[in-house]
Amino acid sequence: MTGLTVRKVAGALGAELGGVDLSRDLDDGTVAAIRAALNTHQVIFFRDQTLTPEQQLAFGRRFGPLNIHPYVTGMAAHPEVMEIIKEPSDKTNFGGGWHSDMSFLETPSIGSILYAVETPDFGGDTLFASQAAAYDALSEGLKRTLEGLNAVHSAGREYSAKGSSAQKRASMQVAEAEGLAGEFVHPVVKVHPETGRKALYVNPAFTMNFEGWTRRESKPLLDFLFEHSRQEAFTCRFAWRDGSVAFWDNRQVWHYALNDYPGQRRHMRRVTVDPA
Ligand code: SIN
Repeated sequence: MTGLTVRKVAGALGAELGGVDLSRDLDDGTVAAIRAALNTHQVIFFRDQTLTPEQQLAFGRRFGPLNIHPYVTGMAAHPEVMEIIKEPSDKTNFGGGWHSDMSFLETPSIGSILYAVETPDFGGDTLFASQAAAYDALSEGLKRTLEGLNAVHSAGREYSAKGSSAQKRASMQVAEAEGLAGEFVHPVVKVHPETGRKALYVNPAFTMNFEGWTRRESKPLLDFLFEHSRQEAFTCRFAWRDGSVAFWDNRQVWHYALNDYPGQRRHMRRVTVDPA
C-alpha cells in the first residue's frame, strides 16, 4: 500500500502519478510502484513537486547510476544535473526535435527525469511518442526484417556547428562533438529487459545508418521509420507547470520539446539514469 494514484493521459503512453512527494526519502515499495508505473506507461508525470538539485539526484539514484553528459556542462556542484535553459533572447531550444536521450553512447541511458524550475506563461510543452506502439503497428513482414538489423548511432551530427543541440543558448554550455564522437551499434528492435515488450530503437537525432548498409541505402527505410514512429496515435503531450516532473523510458519513448514561447524563459533540470 503506497498511496500512489495513477491516471492515464493518452491511449498509447503516459500517466500522471499522485500521492507522492519526490523530495522525501522514498521507501522501497513506493520506488517499486513508480518503476512498475514507468514500465507500464513508458512516461510518467508528477505535479506540484519542490526539488532541490540534491533531492532530484537522490530520487534519480533510486533507479540507477546517473550519467554525466559528455557534451553539455552540468551544474558546477552537481555535474550529473543538466540545466536546460532557454532565455528570452534565445532563438533555439534544446531537445527541439524527436529523439531519445543518449543513444549515441556505447551504453545508452535507460531513463531521464526532468524537473520544471520555471515555465513560460504559454507554450513549452513536451511531446512523447511510444516506440513500443510504433513497433506494434508495423506489418509482420517489416517486423521480421527489422529484428535482424542493428543501427549505428553517433552524436557527431547533432552536436556539430550545424546541429540543433550545439546551437548557442545564453545559459547553456554545449560542446561540439563533430569528429570526436564515437559510433556505437544498437539493435533496431529493443526488448525491454523488465517487461519483454519490443520497441523500435532508431533515433532521428543520432541514428546514422543500418550496420553494414551505406547512409544512402539506409536513408529511405530510416525516413519511413522516423515518419511512422511520430504518428499522433502513438503520442501524448505534457503541459508543464512550475514543479512538474516527467520521467521517461529512453528505451521505448521519443520526446520533442516544443519551441513555441518566444521571448520567455524556460528552466528545467534533468538527470539521466544509466543501467545498473
Ligand atoms: C530534452 O530533450 O531532454 C529536453 C526536453 C524538454 O526540455 O522538454
